Amino acid sequence: MGAMVVDAEYLKEIEKARRDLRALISSKNCAPIMLRLAWHDAGTYDAKTKTGGPNGSIRCQEEYSHGSNAGLKIAIDLCETVKEKHPRITYADLYQLAGVVAVEVTGGPTIDFVPGRKDSSVCPREGRLPDAKKGSQHLREIFYRMGLTDKDIVALSGGHTLGRAHPERSGFEGAWTKEPLKFDNSYFIELLKGESEGLLKLPTDKALLEDPVFRQYVELYAKDEDAFFKDYAESHKKLSELGFSPP
Ligand code: HEM
Repeated sequence: MGAMVVDAEYLKEIEKARRDLRALISSKNCAPIMLRLAWHDAGTYDAKTKTGGPNGSIRCQEEYSHGSNAGLKIAIDLCETVKEKHPRITYADLYQLAGVVAVEVTGGPTIDFVPGRKDSSVCPREGRLPDAKKGSQHLREIFYRMGLTDKDIVALSGGHTLGRAHPERSGFEGAWTKEPLKFDNSYFIELLKGESEGLLKLPTDKALLEDPVFRQYVELYAKDEDAFFKDYAESHKKLSELGFSPP
């Protein structure tokens, strides 16, 4: 993807946009969908062809109309209010900054953010994001294609500590945790407890219990929130920088 030139003015705009995003996300309680937007822009990356990734292409109708992106137009429109105030900031940077701020304002770890991503309007074909109805082999295929690891898969799945599924968007329903606006390790605690009334477990969530390698991380993160926060912050940074070599 390459990087753009980041000057002092741009860095200042980033800091202002960060403050605007903090206020917006807190007042609209939209941290979950902002995190999902950042993940879906980045998660299309293909390391072999160096296509997809956190390049803002999800702002294009061709891409946000993909079935897996149902509902994300809401987050795109919310980000547009910040883009209008800070037009120099690329969509690619804005969406990743929104993801980092969403985790921060809900009590999660601080994630290092390096600006400089370029925008692209080349949209990947549908089907690069994971299918929630599948198992661990599928998760590995998708995340290895991005250049991510087993540990990244489990740590990033902890993003489901925020938010919920909506029947009209994905066909699934409900939240993964009792406090879906709080970023903590409760996703892993609930996962280990097994079926609990009213809480959601996707087939891909359950796959993390069945696979012995994945399960070790689930057990670690359920009992050690600091370990989860540390690994999550590292994996989220990797996700947010796929194909991007900071200047
Ligand atoms: C929501 C699937 C990984 C963050 C959802 C939904 C599905 C899903 C089906 C429900 C969408 C809806 O109905 O609104 C998956 C699958 C993954 C995955 C199969 C593979 C591991 C991730 C990752 C993150 C993430 C890596 C972030 C680090 C979220 C968030 C929501 C969500 C925050 C809630 C959105 C809201 O409340 O509107 N995911 N996801 N997911 N996902 Fe994932």
